[in-house]
Amino acid sequence: MALSVKIENLSYSYEPGKPVLKSVSIEVAPGECVGIIGPSGSGKSTLLMHLNGVLRGDGTVRIGDLLVNEKSIAEVRRVTGVVFQDPDDQLFNPTVEEDVAFGPLNFGLTPEVVRARVGEALKAMNLEGFETMTSHHLSFGERKRVALATVLAMRPEVIAFDEPFSNLDPAMVQQLTGLIRGMEATLVVVSQSILPLLVCCDRIAILKDGEVVAVAPPREIARNSDLLRSCGLDISFYRDICIDYL
Ligand SMILES: Nc1ncnc2c1ncn2[C@@H]1O[C@H](COP(=O)(O)OP(=O)(O)O)[C@@H](O)[C@H]1O
Ligand SMILES: [Mg+2]
Repeated sequence: MALSVKIENLSYSYEPGKPVLKSVSIEVAPGECVGIIGPSGSGKSTLLMHLNGVLRGDGTVRIGDLLVNEKSIAEVRRVTGVVFQDPDDQLFNPTVEEDVAFGPLNFGLTPEVVRARVGEALKAMNLEGFETMTSHHLSFGERKRVALATVLAMRPEVIAFDEPFSNLDPAMVQQLTGLIRGMEATLVVVSQSILPLLVCCDRIAILKDGEVVAVAPPREIARNSDLLRSCGLDISFYRDICIDYL
């Protein structure tokens, strides 16, 4: 069952007097996929780390009826999977198979169910045949796919992705957008890559200097060229780069 995500008036500073998030409010309906786009340093990763209580700012974050706080943290982490930007923050077992099995095993699932989930998650990430490989022998993009698989195998009700498209080749980006579109979980996808976000999100929020400056369906966001350009995100930048080839 998918759960809603409700972020209300969330503010956060790493250092006193330097707010990184400024009263951010975003609501994600059960089963909805909301993208959060913003230039580098706008606070996207900081915002994401509040969804499973890694960071705790002023304001509230709710996963379904659950208020994220010290008391609820174990339950919050059971229902909310976070795919970190850096796969090396997520992978710590000797083999790919063990990394992907780790979460489901911790849930106390039977070995057969765990095996099935691992197989399914590896298949979704084109990692069949990687089972017994060592994560640190893989390329960054491959490790990124393993990190995604570790979260998929847990089948969380809410999944938050931090820059899932970075370091993936174009074919894998396309496969991942398809996978995200087909997911029943509630999804929050933080990314600087506007093109894949446009195709896989129901709505997109633009974060600029720690503030939400727009939330709208992808088509509306894509048409707001002035705003996107002022954030360094507009699609026209790509058009300008490849104008000679189109
Ligand atoms: N651990 C930290 N200590 C101090 N400042 C930080 C820390 N992490 C991030 N920041 C600062 O917070 C701002 C937002 O960072 P981040 O959330 O990573 O942005 P984004 O993910 O949008 O690129 C940046 O100015 C960054 O330098
Ligand atoms: Mg980031």
